[in-house]
Amino acid sequence: MFEHLQDQPADKILALMSAYRADPRNGKIDLGVGVYKNAEGKTPVMRAIKAAERRLVEEQETKSYTGLAGDPAFAAAMGALVLGDAVARDRVAAIATPGGTGAVRMGFEVARMANPDVTVRVSAPTWPNHNSILKFMKLPFKEYRYFDEATGGVDFDGMLQDLAGAKAGDLVLLHGCCHNPTGANLTPDQIDEVIAVMDGRGLVPMVDIAYQGFGDGLDADAAVTRRLATAFDNCLIAASCSKNFGVYRERTGILMAVSADAAEAGTTQQTLDYLNRQTYSFPPDHGARCVTMILTDPALRADWEAELEEVRTGMLALRQQLADELRQRTNSDRFDFVARHRGMFSRLGLSPDQVESLRADHAIYMVGDSRINIAGLNRDTVPVLAKAIAQVLGA
Ligand code: LMR
Repeated sequence: MFEHLQDQPADKILALMSAYRADPRNGKIDLGVGVYKNAEGKTPVMRAIKAAERRLVEEQETKSYTGLAGDPAFAAAMGALVLGDAVARDRVAAIATPGGTGAVRMGFEVARMANPDVTVRVSAPTWPNHNSILKFMKLPFKEYRYFDEATGGVDFDGMLQDLAGAKAGDLVLLHGCCHNPTGANLTPDQIDEVIAVMDGRGLVPMVDIAYQGFGDGLDADAAVTRRLATAFDNCLIAASCSKNFGVYRERTGILMAVSADAAEAGTTQQTLDYLNRQTYSFPPDHGARCVTMILTDPALRADWEAELEEVRTGMLALRQQLADELRQRTNSDRFDFVARHRGMFSRLGLSPDQVESLRADHAIYMVGDSRINIAGLNRDTVPVLAKAIAQVLGA
């Protein structure tokens, strides 16, 4: 039977990871996959995670199954982290999932079960795997305008126009913060306008929040998600712990589904449990248990927040340094948006040929659409990147 299989299109982010690893050049710079790296280029296990793991080894008495939804304490802790007190707890159904990607997939699944005619509205551009999963699921999707290449900001009028043309019941996928791949984000006032248009059209929000704490801080980064969850009867939220807890390979995420009331939440919860059961039975627990321990233990939490804050402010400093270097090297303000963007990524607006010559001539790896991972830089490599960009631009 396998003779009928066909090669699948390569995931461009993962293909770039392999190409970087295979490159023998000294001084190569990896600005590809969205993994945090410190100034030494390492992705360390966060201190609080190490402490939680040690405690787990000592104290955990069983590895028997959790519930289908995962540990309820994880759902409570993540609900508080992401939603704060924006919605009543009894309106929120939730399942632990293998990473944020698992939550995204389950979110699409439950949306289709609830509305077989749903079309998913995704930002242009969005994380490529959003579109890839939707294609695989044969779930119709359409893009709404989002990124303005000319300014490096949000094409807000285009976005509102496209959302106003969506059909009632469509699911609008929004990034909670730190838009991937562009780095350009909506302001709080803009999100209110988006809500008004969506409400007028009868659209349903789904938020992918994978970088809480990487932009403007834990609460500020949750503001868009909280506003959306408050404004609508129904809202799906896919949250990832991969980045802000640094537990990438532990596959730790959660799907939350805000329902109109407690009764509806009961049925939604059963549906989510069912979806987990059909897909992988019980979700992974190790990462989720460590995250729960950190969020509920004041000392561990304080240490985690402090380390996360170092990560966040470190990336902001690199952004400012890069914007300054580029201003000087290119003698223009073309790249000033780099300092205004938030999160791990910025889309620089270079052509595919320019991206390719950065790779071929300078051993600098970025995604083909010119997305860079700011955390792949350090104080010493920022000038190297800026000089190389100026060179490929002929500036
Ligand atoms: C990214 O966008 O680079 C990350 O979210 C990692 C991934 O899985 O693509």
